Amino acid sequence: MRILFIGDIVGAPGREMVTEYLPKLKQKFQPHISIVNGENAASGKGITEKIYKQLLEAGAQAITMGNHTWDKKELFEFIDDADCMVRPANFPEGTPGKGLVFVKSNKLTLAVINLQGRTFLPPLDDPFRKADALIEEAKKKTNHIFVDFHAEATSEKQAMAWYLDGRVSMVVGTHTHVQTADERVLPQGTGYITDVGMTGPYDGILGTDREAVLKRFLTNLPVRFEVTKKGRTQLSAVIVDIDDTSGKTKKIDRILINDDHPFFG
Ligand SMILES: [Fe+2]
Ligand SMILES: [Fe+2]
Repeated sequence: MRILFIGDIVGAPGREMVTEYLPKLKQKFQPHISIVNGENAASGKGITEKIYKQLLEAGAQAITMGNHTWDKKELFEFIDDADCMVRPANFPEGTPGKGLVFVKSNKLTLAVINLQGRTFLPPLDDPFRKADALIEEAKKKTNHIFVDFHAEATSEKQAMAWYLDGRVSMVVGTHTHVQTADERVLPQGTGYITDVGMTGPYDGILGTDREAVLKRFLTNLPVRFEVTKKGRTQLSAVIVDIDDTSGKTKKIDRILINDDHPFFG
């Protein structure tokens, strides 16, 4: 099973990159399942129903989320029907939405799990213990398990990967918006990358208008952050090959598309 995962889609520039390059990436790499992180898809903050549908139409089969899941109030009106949306599973019991979703591809099933870290992020339930419970649930149906661990600290992400080594197929980190060059397969067969990186403006700061971010750093005054609307864009992703029988990862490759790393179809 080959999986394409695209990191945090930021605003209209990110969505445009997905619309343009997801078909090209599918053509080139022929993934069985494509997953995108959509927590910043609506102007950097959350997701709307229209954009949720747009990302599915562009070719995604599952949309993972993160700390920005709840930013758009309309989410509460459609999340119960959004079968392809995976929000952080370690929100308290009773939170709307699902933290584990199954995606089918031919005869194989992939379990997609979203978890959120607790270091430098709001306190949630323990993502490690929650992972244990979800893996047990997922294993009843499949040994192909994909985890998007949405977290700030590199140490927490590495810890999660080692904790889950041999029990899940893949742990991808999201949230920092900067792609890390540490993609690897751990000894028991779990593929890992600390952060896939962001899909959106290339010349902003993590996708946000850089003038505003600089003003915040230079003055410490409150500043309204907005997605950089004009200018160059980028796409960050990974391609993962999972063994059909064992569910272990055989290979993980980074994808970065921007003016400094052009795409060759
Ligand atoms: Fe993000
Ligand atoms: Fe985030």
